[in-house]
Amino acid sequence: MKLFTNIRKLYTPVGFHAARGSAMRDVRVTEDAEILVDIDGMIVSVGVKGDHDRSQHEIIDCNDLVALPGFVDSHTHAVFAGERSMEFAMRAEGKSYQEVALAGGGIQSSVRSVREATTEEIVQNSKRYIESALRLGTTTMEVKSGYGLDTENELKLLRAASELRALTHVDIYTTFLGAHAFPKGVDHDDYVESIINDQIPAVTQSGLAEFIDVFCDEGYFSNEQTRKIITAGIREGLRPRLHADELADTSGAALAVKLGCLSADHLLKVSDSGIRALAASNTVATLLPTTALSIRAPFAPARKVIDAGAIVAIATDCNPGSSMSENMQFVVTLAVIGTQMTVEEALTAATLNGAAALGLEKTHGSVEPGKVMDVVLFDIPQLAYLPYHIAVSDVVAVVKRGVIVHGKENLNWQA
Ligand code: NIG
Ligand code: FE
Repeated sequence: MKLFTNIRKLYTPVGFHAARGSAMRDVRVTEDAEILVDIDGMIVSVGVKGDHDRSQHEIIDCNDLVALPGFVDSHTHAVFAGERSMEFAMRAEGKSYQEVALAGGGIQSSVRSVREATTEEIVQNSKRYIESALRLGTTTMEVKSGYGLDTENELKLLRAASELRALTHVDIYTTFLGAHAFPKGVDHDDYVESIINDQIPAVTQSGLAEFIDVFCDEGYFSNEQTRKIITAGIREGLRPRLHADELADTSGAALAVKLGCLSADHLLKVSDSGIRALAASNTVATLLPTTALSIRAPFAPARKVIDAGAIVAIATDCNPGSSMSENMQFVVTLAVIGTQMTVEEALTAATLNGAAALGLEKTHGSVEPGKVMDVVLFDIPQLAYLPYHIAVSDVVAVVKRGVIVHGKENLNWQA
């Protein structure tokens, strides 16, 4: 087995279920920690210096670095073609996200790029962002389709995501998001029918997605269309999640709870009754602060959502339009500065609760026996330094399933 020793401090949420409300502050600190890992990359025990018999194991000296669980980025659209920096520039000149979309940009612009691209081109485009996410400490990532908007191109995106799973060290989980926007020139009700009758069956038959998502919002999919699509997806074995209450309060959070969604995401405009519904449920409230920053919208009311007792996760929403960042460390910083989350709450939201948003809380999101050894080593004095050192990465090494997949040269091996 492998023994990771000489860890200055290990910070981790604990538990095999999501942390809700005030429990999000419960982060365990172990000084001078050691982590014993079996050959399958599972954690056998976590202790302090001297707890383990060194002669029995391969020793990995972690050089007095600080260890955190790998980030679980539970909401991204990181598989796409092209880029949209010109839209960013238009917003800088005063146009809103919706105005840019109406001027021919927005999701439709990425749809055009994806339809013109081959699977291989999409893989190469996205590989760069996923590898970068790993270097920044993300070990598990959800990726959505949604820039194809027909069966062929939605499958192309999901196939690209599946190829990236083999090409990178990030654990990738996939979501079918055919209901991301209405394709140009197609009747809206006809499109909903084609998602239900053509896209969902093709996706489930391909086995390329585990989740289904709908952009339920003003100007996008109505609550009734959302209900129909999600119900059809559940019937075919996909697990539901929802883009909810981002551009307007359309009671999306309450709908997500009612439909049994694993998560309700964005929530910039969530109402008090939506917050109460989330707090009374196991649906994870996933907040995406980089998106609010990027589209110049007020941040989601994280304080209210946590204080109400809900389960809160944070994620990047990495996408070419509204959040061009794969950096979970920056998300932690924004959650603390922009949404008044405490440092401990933000860590729990970026790890254990992100795992819960993907149904992975029993295996991922914390560093404890029985979980996968996904750990990031930082050259920082303590946890608070992570969000405090704004937009700079102090990652030294990343361990995925017990294997050092980034920064191996920075650690001492005594095999
Ligand atoms: O999560 N809100 C919906 N979809 C994306 C934006 C996608 C885009 O602009 O390409 C989001 O922010
Ligand atoms: Fe999104």
